[in-house]
Amino acid sequence: MSAAHAGGEVEVLHWWTSGGEAKAAAALKEKLQAKGDTWKDFAVAGGGGDSAMTVLKSRVVSGNAPAAAQIKGPSIQEWAREGVLANIDDVAKTEGWDKLLPGVVADVMKYKGNYVAAPVNVHRVNWVWANSEVLKKAGVSKMPATWPEFFAAADALKKAGVIPVAHGGQSWQDFTTFEAVALGVGGTEFYKKALIKLDQPTLNSAKMEEVLTTYKKIKGYTDKNAAGRDWNLATSMVIRGEAGFQFMGDWAKGEFLAAGKAPGKDFQCFAAPGTAAAYTFNIDSFAMFKVKGADKAQAQKDLASAIMSVDFQELFNLNKGSIPVRLGMDLSKFDDCAKQSAKDFQADAKSGSLVPSIAHGMAVPSAIQGAMQDVVSQFWNTDSMTAKDAMAKLASAAKSK
Ligand code: BGC
Repeated sequence: MSAAHAGGEVEVLHWWTSGGEAKAAAALKEKLQAKGDTWKDFAVAGGGGDSAMTVLKSRVVSGNAPAAAQIKGPSIQEWAREGVLANIDDVAKTEGWDKLLPGVVADVMKYKGNYVAAPVNVHRVNWVWANSEVLKKAGVSKMPATWPEFFAAADALKKAGVIPVAHGGQSWQDFTTFEAVALGVGGTEFYKKALIKLDQPTLNSAKMEEVLTTYKKIKGYTDKNAAGRDWNLATSMVIRGEAGFQFMGDWAKGEFLAAGKAPGKDFQCFAAPGTAAAYTFNIDSFAMFKVKGADKAQAQKDLASAIMSVDFQELFNLNKGSIPVRLGMDLSKFDDCAKQSAKDFQADAKSGSLVPSIAHGMAVPSAIQGAMQDVVSQFWNTDSMTAKDAMAKLASAAKSK
């Protein structure tokens, strides 16, 4: 317990409720409590955080914001512009965060030069997870690196009586799969133009039509019960060997690990077809809201300091499936998927193929993201909708305000 102050309470809004996520969240709670503060849990279930963000809006509007909330990317700026976020620059300055974080990450955490949020990790989104034994049984000896190889492997799994792709039919999961296809089929420059710069000619191109067609083809390899399924239940299908593959960010690894499975042995991680030399990043962070009372403000700063500490960054990320966002960390306790992620993060940052995930709130304003996500889901769910129709709708959604 810190001798400097009597403990305060921090109410923390997050959506970490699956097995692996809850273990990671517990690490944060412990770290805060070790400082003598109280953790008030405000968990809103729902992968990807759409429900959590809806609840957050109503709490802030009614003047009852939590002290800290899991908010990411451009949304941090959106909240800061409303004037509701707290300035935690004194903690950041004392601890030298500018030197501990990659510059691009620090910029996202600041509003008008002051820190208003603290980052916990880096998730890579463009992964596929596979059950080793199931693939072996189906005669798939090499993880698919291209889309033709992927569909050939999926056909082999189908023949072997296994569901080729475990999918949860929720719009954020549809969008997560879509962005992997966009990166793999279109390449990094296409991804940047279409999904970050929202360039109309690229959104309305033959390449985009090919992306949409490839994306929709995957649906034929999912099962009939996918609609509404939570992402971690889809991961369980791969863990249990009912399904071969899942397209998902590396929070899925947290589920495999929580189930006692070993990477490289029981399960495989590989970059989505065509994306080995690129990286879609998703950085979880906690934005701090203005609170009343010195004890609460201090507890909030304790949370920020805990988040950036070396031991938290290690323990949390070992459970979460992500890698530390703090620079210079020793990764010797991390597995090969994490090591690959860290290596690629650096290499792709240098080569310009490190891109923000649109499906996970890193790339565009939330209103545009929501509108585009809706179109992509509608296309997935509507067999009468052509790729051309979807493309026109997607391009128009990209103009939403
Ligand atoms: C978050 C992860 C979380 C995942 C599933 C993502 O948007 O960044 O931390 O595990 O959603 O809930």
